[in-house]
Amino acid sequence: MDKKQLEASVAKRRTFAIISHPDAGKTTITEQLLLFGGVVRQAGTVKARKTGNFAKSDWMEIEKKRGISVTSSVMQFDYAGKRINILDTPGHEDFSEDTYRTLMAVDSAVMVIDSAKGIEPQTKKLFKVCKMRGIPIFTFFNKLDRDGREPLDLCAELEEVLGIESYAMNWPIGMGKGLKGLYDIYNNRIELHQREDKGQEYLQLDDNGEIIGDHPLKEDSLYQQVLDEVELVKEAGSQFDEEKIAQGELTPVFFGSALTNFGVKTFLDAYLQFAPAPSPHKMEDGKEVAPNNEEFSGFIFKIQANMNPRHRDRIAFVRICSGEFERGMDVTLERTGKALRLSNSTQFMADTRETLETAVAGDIIGLYDTGNFQIGDTIYAGKEARKFEKLPQFTPELFVRVTAKNVMKQKSFHKGINQLVQEGAIQLYRSYSTNDYILGAVGQLQFEVFKFRMQNEYNSEVEMAPMGHKIARWIAPDQLDEKMSSSRNLLVKDRQDQPLFLFENEFAERWFQDKYPDVKLTAKL
Ligand code: G4P
Repeated sequence: MDKKQLEASVAKRRTFAIISHPDAGKTTITEQLLLFGGVVRQAGTVKARKTGNFAKSDWMEIEKKRGISVTSSVMQFDYAGKRINILDTPGHEDFSEDTYRTLMAVDSAVMVIDSAKGIEPQTKKLFKVCKMRGIPIFTFFNKLDRDGREPLDLCAELEEVLGIESYAMNWPIGMGKGLKGLYDIYNNRIELHQREDKGQEYLQLDDNGEIIGDHPLKEDSLYQQVLDEVELVKEAGSQFDEEKIAQGELTPVFFGSALTNFGVKTFLDAYLQFAPAPSPHKMEDGKEVAPNNEEFSGFIFKIQANMNPRHRDRIAFVRICSGEFERGMDVTLERTGKALRLSNSTQFMADTRETLETAVAGDIIGLYDTGNFQIGDTIYAGKEARKFEKLPQFTPELFVRVTAKNVMKQKSFHKGINQLVQEGAIQLYRSYSTNDYILGAVGQLQFEVFKFRMQNEYNSEVEMAPMGHKIARWIAPDQLDEKMSSSRNLLVKDRQDQPLFLFENEFAERWFQDKYPDVKLTAKL
């Protein structure tokens, strides 16, 4: 495609993630969005998940067993002239590292909050990452069909707990059994609450925000109360400011019920108006690459083995940052300088994975990987070398010693460990003295997933012995003296052969620092 076509194509892209605390309704709203996109035909797949026919975005076997979404997946669909990429993020807190990286690959985020619960811990953590990136954040207060907290109270919490200004795009008229509708401030209309199969019905408002013509709602005291509240937020609240939305300083707020599909379309339509198209990506040297730059470039934010049990494969997820991807194109892998031909690629749909021919900046593609890629790698076409900013790494806080149960099966054990470790959710270390395998993770569940997958995908039963160590600190190789290793710490090396100490607690770390005041220990490499 020529430059003009590329520009038009990129301008249509909307790439975002939904962030939430588990159970706030992320899966349910995702499915409603897929319904609007015509990708799935039936709502209620969340319920189906329980009966085995679970949400399309939950792929892995382990998710079926636990009913949680473990892996990030990508869904693409067209709606209202836009091409939408939703990156699913695992809700479970143990998978936060994976989730954080996914947030590096999106241009905006939708924060789904349970109206009865308000802001919960996981939402807070994920919000911080979005804030750090300065991307626009849109808020959807969910479960309006149930009695929840007062809307004023919920909006105040956004400012008090998250420190973000809010602008109400709409306001609930009642809630739970008394839910009458939404006062749609942005569209100057009322969206009436009615049975889900009846679709949307609106009442138009006049310039003063009053219902035009006669309607029983006019006489309802609840409606009068909502008018007062709306007046209050309009006057005392933050003003609508597109610039602030773009900077992630002000969040447009929507109310609704994902389960009954109420307010979701209103949300999606407004969201698409204000959510940004792909923006320039920063490189390590401080320069930026514009999405309309015709040379293809992108970075790998996730690697996953055996995503689909029917295709035993490994897939590297690439966020395209500039230009157009074409199947069979030649690129350079920045880390090694190696030339690669990208002949085996896939794009993500909710139903199936389809072979992908082209994609542009903003899209996510999956590359079948035979061991070339690592998380954080940049790939680019053309002569001009590029390297995108490093992805954040999170230091593990839990460690286990891992061995193969059956010593005769060392080969599959090594293969499994090495492949799963490349996905980046767990870290692998070897002890200096005995060369034992030690795994580090941010949360316990990652070990369980590892064990399960070793057994299921590599036919390797593993034993894991928890270790008391909780703190990992790297030391510059030229400062290392193996005598520093004592009963109070464990000296190990990471996959790049960099030395680090594992300490049981802060006391042990301080003891070490007191003993070797000139040694500089760092939390991350
Ligand atoms: P998650 O991906 O954020 O973890 O949440 P998910 O969509 O799976 O939703 C969690 C539960 O909340 C589900 O209930 C779902 O039906 C319900 N839910 C989601 N949106 C709404 C909503 O707008 N209104 C109401 N009333 N419920 C909603 P579940 O699968 O039956 O689980 P549970 O009820 O047994 O906990």
